[in-house]
Amino acid sequence: MIKDTADGTPWTVELPERASARDESFVFVRDGHRELIHLHDYARIYTVPGLYERVVQDLLQCRSPIVAVDGAIAAAAELGRALATLRVLDLGAGVGLVGELLRAAGVSAVVGLDNLVEARDACMRDRPGVYEDYLVTDLELAEPAAIEHLAEGQFELLTCVGALGGGHIPPGALIRALNSLTGEALLVMTVHERWLDVDSVDPFSLAFRAMTAGGYLEVLQASSFTHRLDMSGDPITFRLLIGRRTAPVPVDLILM
Ligand SMILES: C[S@@+](CC[C@H](N)C(=O)[O-])C[C@H]1O[C@@H](n2cnc3c(N)ncnc32)[C@H](O)[C@@H]1O
Repeated sequence: MIKDTADGTPWTVELPERASARDESFVFVRDGHRELIHLHDYARIYTVPGLYERVVQDLLQCRSPIVAVDGAIAAAAELGRALATLRVLDLGAGVGLVGELLRAAGVSAVVGLDNLVEARDACMRDRPGVYEDYLVTDLELAEPAAIEHLAEGQFELLTCVGALGGGHIPPGALIRALNSLTGEALLVMTVHERWLDVDSVDPFSLAFRAMTAGGYLEVLQASSFTHRLDMSGDPITFRLLIGRRTAPVPVDLILM
């Protein structure tokens, strides 16, 4: 269990009082010191045990991890894949919330991957043993040997939760992760609705449309849900997408 202290010093968090939907920072208060932290400053947030969980899970009521894991479990069952032997790669694993839920649901082998060493450190500190291994790399820049090493993991399911679009995981990294999977593997992701607009020119949107139109990814299920609240208390709608990778994806797909 994570205590809301860091170095033994209690801390609190304040959300902006009259926030607009565009506000994405909160105030971290410890020992009389007030620090403004952006919600996407993961490297900073992860250094404080329980801070990500307090802000994102408790105050902003984020549901993406549980929605994604429920979806993954249902999809695996429908396709007759046994949870006890299912091998999962969790891309953008953060502090390990998705891994923890997968393990609790009976999945025995989950490997985490994030580009931040702070994410791995936080996961090892707060959720040791959840992941069989936790890799720190940016797959977009990774050497071929690193991708080959990933492929040796024989993953049949890729989860990518709240980590795509809007400057998060770039398409090149997602495609390399997809290509490291084995056979007709499953992809479970949660994505902001705006990145699925036909007009969106976000790199994720372009890659997603190219993957589906090109026959590399078959969407099996798409459903809307409230991902979390924004700082003004309004719901942010995401889509749970469950797909099957039907063919290796060209790495330069969206340049073609
Ligand atoms: C909003 S957090 C979500 C964490 C976790 N999936 C969850 O639902 O709790 C997004 C995560 O994506 C990671 N991320 C961003 N860019 C990445 C990249 N290029 N490769 C791997 N992870 C990345 C961030 O470091 C961060 O931990």
